[in-house]
Amino acid sequence: MTEEGWNYFHKDRQYSDVHKDRLARGVEMDSAKAMASYMNKYFRGALNVQDYGAGPGHYYPVLKRGYSGGPVRYRGIDIDESNVVYGNKHFEDDPAITLELGSVLEPQIAPETNTVISANTLPHVPSIEPLLRGIAAAPNVQFLIFRMLIGSECVQIRKHLLEDDYSGLFEDNYQFNNIYTPQYVRNFLGPDWSVEIEADVVDAARLQEHRIPEQDTNSFYGNRVSRSVDGMVFKGEIYMPWKFVVGVRRS
Ligand SMILES: C[S@@+](CC[C@H](N)C(=O)[O-])C[C@H]1O[C@@H](n2cnc3c(N)ncnc32)[C@H](O)[C@@H]1O
Repeated sequence: MTEEGWNYFHKDRQYSDVHKDRLARGVEMDSAKAMASYMNKYFRGALNVQDYGAGPGHYYPVLKRGYSGGPVRYRGIDIDESNVVYGNKHFEDDPAITLELGSVLEPQIAPETNTVISANTLPHVPSIEPLLRGIAAAPNVQFLIFRMLIGSECVQIRKHLLEDDYSGLFEDNYQFNNIYTPQYVRNFLGPDWSVEIEADVVDAARLQEHRIPEQDTNSFYGNRVSRSVDGMVFKGEIYMPWKFVVGVRRS
């Protein structure tokens, strides 16, 4: 058993490379475009963004082009150093973006940050409480948007990640897929924040065709890549109630 049984990210070089490849090929993820459209609906003015679980920074070009309220400066935080190195090299000529090694479990919100974002990462970490408390305690943060799993109850799910090795089951080599209620988020942000839940934007046909190359050679990836079932997003056996949580500080 390891203390970080949830943290498969360092071991998962192939999946990490999927994001680098998307950045290199200029792929615009549907979730990044949806995030930009909700930012246009709720946010105003220049944004100084901190993105937790940024990968190599592949959301930045989409948000920069898609957000019409003002210029976007972007600081991406990721726990996987290879993403940080790759992203900083890729964007070396753009002074508006930087990638840094760090964890959403120990958020360090910079004084110039007015917007905190996170996409597809918060379900997979052991706790989102440090992030919510960090935002509540940072009056410079005016806006937030998260793509995460939202439902009518808080549920912790552990998905075992190895196909034929069951040692330390649910203690090691697992992936969290955690669901939170809107009330949970509001509880930690407090009355200064207006928090809305917005629908996910999914192209079911495209999701059905979505594959990553590893699926052809490593069947365990088949259980990790989302698919559409009667209009609902499933990953393996698990229904994934993806939503956007959008917050605006009232004062
Ligand atoms: C599913 S990917 C999402 C990447 C990107 N936001 C997207 O939506 O395509 C999760 C990312 O979060 C990073 N990550 C995992 N745990 C983290 C943590 N505790 N703090 C910061 N980043 C983390 C991983 O290295 C990975 O790049």
